[in-house]
Amino acid sequence: MWKGRNVVVTGGAGFIGSHVSDWLIAQGAAVTVVDNLSTGFREFASPAATFVEGDMLDQALLDRTLAGKDFVFHLQANADIRENLAYPRKNVEQNVLATQNLLEAMRANGVKGIAFASTGSVYGEPDVFPTPEDAPFPVQTSLYATSKVACEGLLSSYALGYGFSSWVFRFVSILGPRYTHGHVFDFVKRLRKDPSTLHVLGNGKQLKSYCHVEDCVAAIMTAVGATAAAGSGYWVHNIGRPDMLEVNTSISYIVRELGLSPKLTYEGGERGWVGDSPKILLDIGKLRALGWEPKHTLESSVVDTVRYLVANPWTMDRR
Ligand SMILES: NC(=O)c1ccc[n+]([C@@H]2O[C@H](COP(=O)([O-])OP(=O)(O)OC[C@H]3O[C@@H](n4cnc5c(N)ncnc54)[C@H](O)[C@@H]3O)[C@@H](O)[C@H]2O)c1
Repeated sequence: MWKGRNVVVTGGAGFIGSHVSDWLIAQGAAVTVVDNLSTGFREFASPAATFVEGDMLDQALLDRTLAGKDFVFHLQANADIRENLAYPRKNVEQNVLATQNLLEAMRANGVKGIAFASTGSVYGEPDVFPTPEDAPFPVQTSLYATSKVACEGLLSSYALGYGFSSWVFRFVSILGPRYTHGHVFDFVKRLRKDPSTLHVLGNGKQLKSYCHVEDCVAAIMTAVGATAAAGSGYWVHNIGRPDMLEVNTSISYIVRELGLSPKLTYEGGERGWVGDSPKILLDIGKLRALGWEPKHTLESSVVDTVRYLVANPWTMDRR
């Protein structure tokens, strides 16, 4: 369904967006990447994509870029979940306003299909595990998740109000090649500096579910492919794995892979930071019913990420 399509990937020089672009190009789509390189790297963007270096807050640039396109994968965001309290305005600008600008540029150009990267953090600290897409939203615990809830609302409103086809994907933490933020990145980076100790935010007993970026892209494409013919609508899918891992177990894979045995120190209790959910397990039954199945295990996802970082230390040097 993608051959010959004109697709925009926002954040296409970032971790997940670059994989989405590669996948689409392999399917024969013409891809235009929009990215301001604030956290992404030019080297990540597919060489076969048209690269527009620009900011999502630049409405005129988006209006021009969306001309003649027929679908958008919206992977751009401020994806920093831990620093979110330090920059409260950033989440509103970079997530909510950027998404609003994009939707307006789509509307101005008659582009009506959009797939959006949301987050499992929208469930806050849920009562139900695995957490299904229709779980009640609890009190929001982070500004990042709050901004994603607002974006989801914009996408559903544009679907109803303007006949858009809007897909929302709530990810667990994604791992794999070109990963440049999150716990594996931080731990490997810090262990490069000091292999003797590793300081952990939280008690290390937080239970997290991860998903490999290849499985994540396959999940997105499966869901969009399954419902694209339906015309306008609003679809929400969780993306994750059916199991969880203690942060301490993840650390054991990382240090084993690096051949190190650092002294571990811990800070805080159940939560590593305000808004950190001590347990994450999303119900992925909806995507499985469409025939998608994650291929990577939790362990292979962590190991693959560590190997990528070891082979590409420049990604850590430039952060
Ligand atoms: N990585 C994860 O584990 C994870 C989990 C849940 C949700 N998500 C979501 O998935 C999406 C992709 O995340 P990622 O991990 O690839 O992040 P990333 O930081 O690697 O990619 C984001 C990209 O957007 C670009 N960007 C940021 N602000 C911009 C702006 N104003 N204008 C133009 N470009 C801008 C950055 O340069 C970067 O290339 C984000 O929406 C994120 O919130 C990621």
